[in-house]
Amino acid sequence: MTVATAKAPKRATSDVKDLALAAKGKGRIEWAEGQMPVLREIRARFEKEKPLKGQRIAACLHVTTETANLMRTFVAGGAEVALCASNPLSTQDDNAASLVKDYGIATFAIRGEDSKTYYRHLNQALDLKPTMTLDDGADLVTVIHKERTELIKDLIASMEETTTGVLRLRAMAKDGALKIPVVSVNDAQTKFMFDNRYGTGQSTIDGIIRATNLLIAGRTVVIAGYGWCGRGVAQRARGLGAKVIVTEVEPIRALEATMDGFEVRPMADAARAADVIVTLTGNKGVVRREHFQSMKDGAIVANSGHFNVELDLEALAALAKTVKKGVRENVDQYVLKDGRSIFLIGEGRLVNLAAAEGHPAAVMDMSFATQALMAEWVVKNRGGLHVEVMNVPRDVEQWIARLKLSTMGVSIDDLTPEQRKYLEAWEEGT
Ligand SMILES: NC(=O)c1ccc[n+]([C@@H]2O[C@H](COP(=O)([O-])OP(=O)(O)OC[C@H]3O[C@@H](n4cnc5c(N)ncnc54)[C@H](O)[C@@H]3O)[C@@H](O)[C@H]2O)c1
Repeated sequence: MTVATAKAPKRATSDVKDLALAAKGKGRIEWAEGQMPVLREIRARFEKEKPLKGQRIAACLHVTTETANLMRTFVAGGAEVALCASNPLSTQDDNAASLVKDYGIATFAIRGEDSKTYYRHLNQALDLKPTMTLDDGADLVTVIHKERTELIKDLIASMEETTTGVLRLRAMAKDGALKIPVVSVNDAQTKFMFDNRYGTGQSTIDGIIRATNLLIAGRTVVIAGYGWCGRGVAQRARGLGAKVIVTEVEPIRALEATMDGFEVRPMADAARAADVIVTLTGNKGVVRREHFQSMKDGAIVANSGHFNVELDLEALAALAKTVKKGVRENVDQYVLKDGRSIFLIGEGRLVNLAAAEGHPAAVMDMSFATQALMAEWVVKNRGGLHVEVMNVPRDVEQWIARLKLSTMGVSIDDLTPEQRKYLEAWEEGT
């Protein structure tokens, strides 16, 4: 349904599934807010200081309740905001409805939207003529650089939320194609060490269990990629009693997985043993035709990396005699010509968002506190920004970590003056 936004400026319209879902969404947004004390504190300060006054922010993020609270924080800071989805299957329609109806935020996102609608929504968010963009996978930046170059002149900076987006942006910078300053929020320790590891770790397992109701104990779970996300999923699967096999292409990560006590094997071997396979590499074609061909009857396949290209879904479809859609919610059964079945969760899209609610709010509190503070930071520093992919300043990360600790009731020691001197002076240390 296309609707005019309540309280929104006249240009902005929204495209969400059904405004009648708003009440449920509002309750869930408020629940997430309760788990996000750091972001709440930033929002309270933004209300008073309005550091984003006059800014227009276009955001392409997973349209979850945590994202809703980030959008509210930007609005509290004085910004005008337009939001679209960063994945066709991650939108929570009740949440999108509430953003429009209860918070007056222009939102363009419908769960399950086709590719044409997805790109229309990106462009509708960009019609805001943003001074700042936020991406989870670099889609807005890509559209701006390829099709909407007229927007570049007004852009102070863009912020990137995920590993795959940062890889794309660094490639653009290397080729000289990047035309705006970009902050890699993903590379902040307050983001990747917690969101990618604990957030993806828990929610990926949550998505698999919600979709299949599988008993994880005693199963062989194959994790492709032992990065921050893969480590998290491997730890959680082991915690539930799975036998975990890791596949890697990078020797140091493979060594780390081995010393963390996981079995490491090539995918050709691992696929044969797997009851469940999850990809988290940011790469393509990680599970291919030959792997599908060797899987056990009943193997479950999911992806939690940014794009579904981690799985060669065309090869899987070509191997299938029949595809039974929705044998359970979010599960499709591929019946192969020899009678074996492979079950695919969430069409190979991010399983934690397609089949569960994405990361728990308490971990997104830190990622989105980083986003909110960096939005303020780029406005303050706009005169001195270079066209490059830059990191989040250390003091911003430390402020967030300290506040998060205090909201969790955890205190730490301070360096004494003697200790500080000892650590900083080269003459010390005898
Ligand atoms: N599901 C989510 O909510 C969520 C959250 C954060 C990040 N992500 C996405 O997850 C992916 C991984 O993110 P990360 O932060 O762990 O990245 P990372 O760079 O830390 O780890 C990726 C790992 O995959 C390995 N790898 C690459 N190709 C491989 C292959 N063919 N086989 C096996 N291993 C391979 C790399 O060597 C690396 O160790 C990215 O696409 C990222 O955008 C998803």
